[in-house]
Amino acid sequence: MTARIIDGKQVSATIRAELQAEVAALKAATGVVPGLAVVLVGNDPASTSYVTAKEKACQEVGIFSDDNRLPAETSEAELLALIARLNQDERIHGILVQLPLPKHISEAKVIMAIDPDKDVDGFHPVNVGRMVIGEEAFLPCTPHGVLVLLERCGVVLDGAEVVVVGRSNIVGKPLANMLIQKGSRGNATVTVCHTRTRNLAEHTRRADIVIAAAGRPGTITADMVREGAVVIDVGVNRVSDSSAARGYRLVGDVDFAALKEKASLITPVPGGVGPMTITMLLHNTVASAKRRR
Ligand code: GUN
Repeated sequence: MTARIIDGKQVSATIRAELQAEVAALKAATGVVPGLAVVLVGNDPASTSYVTAKEKACQEVGIFSDDNRLPAETSEAELLALIARLNQDERIHGILVQLPLPKHISEAKVIMAIDPDKDVDGFHPVNVGRMVIGEEAFLPCTPHGVLVLLERCGVVLDGAEVVVVGRSNIVGKPLANMLIQKGSRGNATVTVCHTRTRNLAEHTRRADIVIAAAGRPGTITADMVREGAVVIDVGVNRVSDSSAARGYRLVGDVDFAALKEKASLITPVPGGVGPMTITMLLHNTVASAKRRR
């Protein structure tokens, strides 16, 4: 079988156009412009490129973006003071602190310091708890993006066997939780696999939908997936490539070349889940501004 390749850029562009119209309507009706504060500590190249893309995306849909780039030596107290200020700032409806943070700063403390009503990443324990019990919450952007991508591609989750490979707080754990919720974006039967799983292939071969979020190239090979399954690749790995202008190229966690001949639907890297992450961040920021009204 030759898979249909899911165009995450196209789905993102459609949603971003919808958000742009919502932002314009909100501004016309109330004068409110949604605002997102983006905080980057240090200059990790991947984080810098994500943050730059987030700021650019905000500008494209009309969200005010407050750019905070701090040196790697910034102390935890200084970062907490910035967050306290942003929590009080009326122009700011969302706060995003790019992870990972330098080792001398506690990520848990920083996440806890963000006002849950401005936590557009959905990482604060209050939002995680609300999500788990099925209450309205900011949903974390990457797993939410995966669900919306599946929904917009017509993939039925009701009763589906889904295998999630990876158990991070940012992707695997929240995604598994979202998939088991009651409702049209849930109702799946979910297995979560990780580095300590015995015989990973035994699990993935059973799946109607395989979601790879392990952060390791080659985690999912063609022999591990049944013919006609849906394959979602959340991995973003830099591998060195002297023929590429930047000296590296991006690959996912799955063997895309082989799996596109076996799956029914598959996401590429780049251009699959990646653009959806930023789109859901914009969605959460607009939702936060509307909620504040
Ligand atoms: N680092 C990797 N993914 C994310 C994300 O979704 N949000 C933040 N804040 N940091 C990240």
